Order: sequence, then C-alpha cells, then structure tokens
Amino acid sequence: MAAAAANGSAGGADTREEFKRIYGVLKAELLGDPAFEFTDSSRQWIDRMLDYNVLGGKCNRGLSVVDSYKLLKGANVLGEEEMFLTSTLGWCIEWLQAYFLVLDDIMDDSHTRRGQPCWFRLPQVGSIAINDGVILRNHITRMLRFHFKGKPYYADLLDLFNEVEFKTASGQLLDLITTHEGEKDLTKYNIGVHRRIVQYKTAYYSFYLPVACALLLSGEDLVNYAAVEDILVKMGIYFQVQDDYLDCYGDPEFIGKIGTDIEDYKCSWLVVQALERADESQKHVLFENYGKKDPACVAKVKNLYRELNLEAIFQDYESESYKKLIADIEAQPSIAVQNVLKSFLHKIYKRQK
Ligand code: IPE
Ligand code: MN
Ligand code: MN
Repeated sequence: MAAAAANGSAGGADTREEFKRIYGVLKAELLGDPAFEFTDSSRQWIDRMLDYNVLGGKCNRGLSVVDSYKLLKGANVLGEEEMFLTSTLGWCIEWLQAYFLVLDDIMDDSHTRRGQPCWFRLPQVGSIAINDGVILRNHITRMLRFHFKGKPYYADLLDLFNEVEFKTASGQLLDLITTHEGEKDLTKYNIGVHRRIVQYKTAYYSFYLPVACALLLSGEDLVNYAAVEDILVKMGIYFQVQDDYLDCYGDPEFIGKIGTDIEDYKCSWLVVQALERADESQKHVLFENYGKKDPACVAKVKNLYRELNLEAIFQDYESESYKKLIADIEAQPSIAVQNVLKSFLHKIYKRQK
C-alpha cells in the first residue's frame, strides 16, 4: 500500500516527494559525470549552483510531465521505471527553465528570484552566472543521454528540446530588442507585438514542452498533435499575461520576485492595455514616465493603471481566456487529451504566483 501510494494522486504530495527524490539522483549523476575530471571545488560549485537555481520554484512544468503521462495512460500510479523516466524529463524542463532564468535575470537587471537574490547578484558569482547558464543547458543533454540513449524516441526528444529552446531564445531576442531598440517610442507597442514575444519566450517551453514529452514517452508521434500544440500555446500566452499582471500587482513576498517591467520599458500586457485606453493627457503621462528607474515615475505609471481600471480589465481577460480555452479543449476528440489540457489549465487559472 505504501509503495502503491508513492506516486498515487496526480500532482499530489506523494508525487512531489518522489519527484524531489529523483532530483537528488539526477544531481548525483551529474556530479559524477565521467566526461569531466571534477575537482572538489568545481563539484561543490555545481552542487550549490543547482540547488540555488533549479530548486525553489513551483515545479509546475516538471510535474506536468508526470501528471500528463498518467492521464494519457489512464493510470493513477506509475511503476518505478516509468516514474523515474517521466520525472527525469520533468527535471530536464526545470533545468531548461533554470538556464533561461539565470540569463533572463542578468538581461532584465532583476534583483530577486524565488525569494532570494538572483544568482548573478551574489558577489562570488557575478558573470560566472553566464557560464552556469551554459552548464545548466548542457546538463539537459547529459541527462537525456544518460537515461534515454537507445530508446526509439531518443532522437525525437533531442529534437524537441532543441526546437523549443530555439523558439524560447528567439522570443527572448524579440523581448529584448523590442525593449532596447532605438528611441523609446511607446507607439510601437501593441497587442500583436506583445503576443509574438510571449508566444515564443514562454508558451512553448512552459506548456507545449511538458505535454510533448509525455506524448513521446507514450510512444506518440508529435505530428499528430498540432491541435493540442495550438491550445497549449494559447494557454502559454494567457500564462504570460498573468506573469505581466503579477509583475505589477503581485505581492513580491509571495511571487518571490520584484517586478521590473515598468522600469525596464517592457512591452507588457498592462502597458499595451493602457495605451489602448488612454486619452491624450494620459498617454503623455505614460510617455514621460514609462521605462524610468525613478520610483516616482513608476508610481505615476501605476496610478495611471489604476485610473484605467486595468485590474478589472485583466479579470475579464482571465475569465474570457478560460472560457475560450475550455471550449477549445472540449472540441478535442480524445478524453485523455482533454484531461491533460484541463489539468494544466486548472493549475494556472487565477494563480497568485
Ligand atoms: C522570461 O519572461 C521568460 C523566460 C524565457 C525565462 P519574464 O522576463 O517576464 O520572466 P520573469 O518575470 O523575469 O520571471
Ligand atoms: Mn525577466
Ligand atoms: Mn515577467
């Protein structure tokens, strides 16, 4: 009974515990990787770097591989080997996330992440964080090689991670050049520009990737799942709109990071909504104050958001997105696939962090 319950309930406490145990196994393998002659200090560095950057998140993406795989198989409990392999893919996504976040925080000049200083902010770390990002990315390939080389879907897995990484890095490129290119000109920001950035920087790796991993593990061919990909990408866009909202309205204590979108002149969903609704004098306030580090300027932008009632506009967007997504999901022919998509949606609907 105890063994059967070890990974019983979908996304439950037992699954999380087993998932976390597997992190320890994967880390130990990476620290003993025979391809490198570790010194004591390099091993200690990686050990600390991994705990600092890979842990501390919600593990939504990683656990979704396990949950999705269970739902696809219609199984409540997985055997030890299956649990290990699904969790390993889940951790590969968590590693991918850690890699992108370590570099994203440098580029966004952020201060905190997951309730602690950003890795590059630690005096002993600084620009070594860039190479740590590269190492995190390479660990994914190491883990896939250790555990999937020889499987019939090994090439598809590598291809999937490569494709998704390319899309994410391209989204980050768009985010960064939209922010930094040329004169500060808010008239270039609109919902189409925003959609393209967030689709690429967030949706593929956060939503499509976990489900695609579960599909490959189940022996499916991803070419048959274009409609599922489409729904997951829409869900990912909705998720990043929530992230943009929380950047301004979330409690930093609770979300573990201090928002920087206004200071950074980001093409956030909030500023796009504000631009659509502002009259000439309100636009003037935005043009004068958006993208400045001065807290007084940030406060003026936030006041304008309040005047324009963006909180209520977001809440409407949130319930509309939910309704549309549920309708798309219920048009899917497979009930197992419907369950995977709904389970994912319910993890994020009205999230506070
Ligand atoms: C970054 O988007 C998405 C990644 C590819 C990591 P954000 O810059 O909005 O993410 P946060 O707000 O720093 O977490
Ligand atoms: Mn960021
Ligand atoms: Mn953000």
